[in-house]
Amino acid sequence: MRVNPENIPDGIRDKKIAIIGYGLLGRPVAHCLRDSNHEVRIGLRENSRSIKMVTDDGFEHGTIDEAASWADGVFLLIPDDRQGAVYATKLETSMRDGSMLVLAHGFAFLYSRITPRETIDAVVIAPHGPGNALRDLYLKGKGLAAQVAVQQDSSGMAETRALMLARSLGHDKGGIKICSVKDEVVMDLFAEQMVLCGGVVELMRAAYRTLVDAGYDSESAYESVVRELKYTVDIIHQHGPHGMLRRISKSALVGSLFHGELAVGDDVLDRMKNLLERIEKGEFKDKLDELAANEDDTDLNQMIEKIEEDFRT
Ligand SMILES: NC(=O)c1ccc[n+]([C@@H]2O[C@H](COP(=O)([O-])OP(=O)(O)OC[C@H]3O[C@@H](n4cnc5c(N)ncnc54)[C@H](OP(=O)(O)O)[C@@H]3O)[C@@H](O)[C@H]2O)c1
Repeated sequence: MRVNPENIPDGIRDKKIAIIGYGLLGRPVAHCLRDSNHEVRIGLRENSRSIKMVTDDGFEHGTIDEAASWADGVFLLIPDDRQGAVYATKLETSMRDGSMLVLAHGFAFLYSRITPRETIDAVVIAPHGPGNALRDLYLKGKGLAAQVAVQQDSSGMAETRALMLARSLGHDKGGIKICSVKDEVVMDLFAEQMVLCGGVVELMRAAYRTLVDAGYDSESAYESVVRELKYTVDIIHQHGPHGMLRRISKSALVGSLFHGELAVGDDVLDRMKNLLERIEKGEFKDKLDELAANEDDTDLNQMIEKIEEDFRT
């Protein structure tokens, strides 16, 4: 359900906000909320690598439990696979009765990594895009679209509170949809795996390899199948996939219409359906659990290095 921004009550409901984690999303969220007149404190783990950046950015900071016990609203913005442990050990007892826990992705709620205490509200405000885009659009007086979902409504006001915070992040200008936690999680995981991150990298990697293996210049191949994508995506963002096809050269159009399907193969719908079902059954959380034991993400970094190598040779 799309939210009419005029139905979001005026004013600030949750004045004091703790941001736990100062990473890719925590930092932009902290800046936007401060600019929207919230009081913001950052909660960091001991020996956090982010202390200098937090101080340089002019924010007060404390331990995770100190920040949480001070706040009306607590954004938990650390990697999804670590949220359950931090909630259980630091937030469960320190958050005040009547305060609200906010996640930017409902993973830990859906898979019961976090079962919020009965006396707090728990919601998801999930931006449709990365933290840097959220901040850029906010600064331009625009906003990123977002999904809002309520996991637990203890106060009877959880949805309204979430919408007011979403407005403080500029989401009212980008479009807010209310949905269930499950819908937010499943759609987000599916989109990033099949298209936005996983799918697009594999497509570029295969096209780059094909050109380079056939003897074409590697720098030009990289320019053609990787860097040029930005301009196509910009047009798609503005006009949709069909609108992009109306704005390219005749030869690009004919090639796209007759050969584009070769890039994904006949059985792609079956494979996507299969992946969607596996995500719905919760299989992806098992994969994340398997890897979570490694605090430094060594396995993941090795996989990225392999992809880096493929694009270098
Ligand atoms: N990245 C995005 O643009 C984006 C977009 C939409 C939704 N989200 C969601 O936003 C949430 C945060 O994602 P993110 O990408 O911003 O994460 P991130 O950049 O990886 O988070 C880094 C922050 O988390 C802290 N941290 C890591 N492990 C911790 C632990 N065990 N205990 C306490 N703090 C810990 C780090 O501490 P140090 O300061 O010590 O390094 C750092 O401050 C996730 O739920 C994600 O799905 C992210």
